[in-house]
Amino acid sequence: MEPSESEPNATSPSNQSGLTRRTILAGLGASALLSTAAASSLMSRAQSAAQALTPPTTKENTMPFTLPNLPYAENALEPSIDQKTMNIHRTKHHQAYVDNLNKALEGQAEYGKWTLDEICTQIGSIPETIRPVVRNNGGGHWNHSFFWQIMAPKGSGGAPSAELTAAIDKAFGGLDAFKQAFADAGMKRFGSGWAWLVKKGDGSLAIGSTPNQDNPLMKGFVDVVGRPLLAVDVWEHAYYLNYQNRRADYLAAWWNVVNWNEVNTRFAQA
Ligand SMILES: [Fe+2]
Repeated sequence: MEPSESEPNATSPSNQSGLTRRTILAGLGASALLSTAAASSLMSRAQSAAQALTPPTTKENTMPFTLPNLPYAENALEPSIDQKTMNIHRTKHHQAYVDNLNKALEGQAEYGKWTLDEICTQIGSIPETIRPVVRNNGGGHWNHSFFWQIMAPKGSGGAPSAELTAAIDKAFGGLDAFKQAFADAGMKRFGSGWAWLVKKGDGSLAIGSTPNQDNPLMKGFVDVVGRPLLAVDVWEHAYYLNYQNRRADYLAAWWNVVNWNEVNTRFAQA
């Protein structure tokens, strides 16, 4: 069944910032001189700031899984990615992965308690009766939650850190060579899938691609294994409205909206 087009659930991890509407209003109450309009404006800005500071996380995400908010406006990645594509991609495709994952794990006493990370890293322990649907939809939820975070409006994503640059130089011979190899991985992925930059267990970097909604956490099921630092969605649903069949053009424009600040953080923490 097609998921309904709705706002993300209010219990989404991205909304659990601690800076709730109630606390904001309580703070505003201390200043009785604020006009209603000013208070409303201040609350709106505070909520926006809270959302920006608490991007959706996949780490503590457990059943029932929910659609994360975007850490930027839906049209903020234009012209590289248009608003309509972003809207359909998240509220239809991503929402369907969330809904189908919840449905697959409903009534599963043990696996229903796993985090999204655990579902991916231990996909081989999921019973074969539900593994394919959990693999596709758990991967789909993880991958898209990650994808929204590693993008940012043009000009606000920063640049690779000195440490990441050194690792990229060592692994690929420079940033331009890395970008070329990464784009090649996306171009050569037959059909639908993803291209990845990962940090392997030994600390080195690697590029690879996965089919469908597989990801590098699914050890034993994929060719590229490690902690994801960067990924690009090369399913047609990610670009077809704006770029039609021109995947290469989409990949070229996508570099404009990479959130290098987030990639740097993930590289340092991985
Ligand atoms: Fe997608």
